[in-house]
Amino acid sequence: SNPSLLILPGDGIGPEVMAEVRKIIDWYGTKRDLTFDVSEDLVGGAAYDKHGVPLADATMDKAQEVDAVLLGAVGGPKYDSLDFSVKPERGLLRLRKEMDLYANLRPAQCFDALADFSSLKRDVVAGLDIMIVRELTSGVYFGEPRGIFEEGNERVGINTQRYTESEIDRVARSAFELAMKRDKKLCSMEKANVMESGVLWREVVTKVGEDYPEVELSHMYADAGAMQLTRWPKQFDVIVTDNLFGDLLSDLAAMLTGSLGMLPSASLGAPMANGRPKALYEPVHGSAPDIAGQGKANPIACILSFAMALRYSFDAGDEATRLEEAVNAVLADGLRTADLLGEEGVQPVSTSEMGDAIVAKLDAS
Ligand code: NAI
Ligand code: MG
Repeated sequence: SNPSLLILPGDGIGPEVMAEVRKIIDWYGTKRDLTFDVSEDLVGGAAYDKHGVPLADATMDKAQEVDAVLLGAVGGPKYDSLDFSVKPERGLLRLRKEMDLYANLRPAQCFDALADFSSLKRDVVAGLDIMIVRELTSGVYFGEPRGIFEEGNERVGINTQRYTESEIDRVARSAFELAMKRDKKLCSMEKANVMESGVLWREVVTKVGEDYPEVELSHMYADAGAMQLTRWPKQFDVIVTDNLFGDLLSDLAAMLTGSLGMLPSASLGAPMANGRPKALYEPVHGSAPDIAGQGKANPIACILSFAMALRYSFDAGDEATRLEEAVNAVLADGLRTADLLGEEGVQPVSTSEMGDAIVAKLDAS
């Protein structure tokens, strides 16, 4: 049977960028005989408007069954005054929590045509393609004890960095599996020099590495890692790190390459019965209410999120590469959505013109 995909366009520019992904999914079905069983449903404000909750139970059930979920974006000013429990973001949080998506994948990928768009020098970023795997469901953002307490005559704010061996083991496995689908190089980052949780992290990652002898494993202190990421990021392929360091390092790495409108992401959980990991793919950007409804949104972040789904959920790495090359070719032709304007000699295009141009490049591939 065909691989299954649940599409949740969401709010604001979510449906606009998702419409372009639909063109690409259709292309794969008609031109490459790669057909997905696609279903579409509501999330975020759109779900709240219809069901009074940002994610209906039936949608949640569906998300648990499919091979992958592709989400646009949620939120918008219309929903800002809603009660916290039904805010659009809660829909996304519910998906992440109930699917137990503990590995957050954030690539930093630089398309040649945009190398001058980076704040770093062209030769540092041109051709860059690295992946940061951030542990997403544990660590200092969740550890107990936490809170603000009275201590003597002042208050103390406490958070606890806490990782069990199994939590480290499972995210390390996700990272090694990814490395196997990429350049077989993994760098683990922690602060084993000053943190016991880091000592355990390094120990467990090293142990998991014994199951992946083909992957070249290295370790780095996270502060040194931040330096190396800006000095010479191409030394890395996959980086695995905890929730806190991953939060910082993935934002840093993302900005090596430019616009929010270009950044895809994935969140992976445990392998399902068919061996595929539970997976949610989504652009890093939000619903961009300031440009919604104007045909200005860059659909590439969402399109590249689908490319990640091809590679990491559907074992179609070659097709993912084909799609990424089509994106690169369109950018090389000078086509730019509004977020990427600024250089000379580029051609401003709308959201749907960008999608059409990418499909045309696929046709020519
Ligand atoms: P945002 O990412 O929606 O927008 C930030 C800026 O980047 C805006 O100026 C926007 O126009 C621009 N931008 C974002 N994506 C773009 C694209 N594809 N093409 C061109 N320009 C793009 O973040 P913001 O403004 O902080 O939040 C807006 C709403 O989105 C809020 O309701 C927020 O809660 C929600 N949000 C949702 C996320 C999600 O669904 N995962 C993530 C971040 C924010
Ligand atoms: Mg962050």
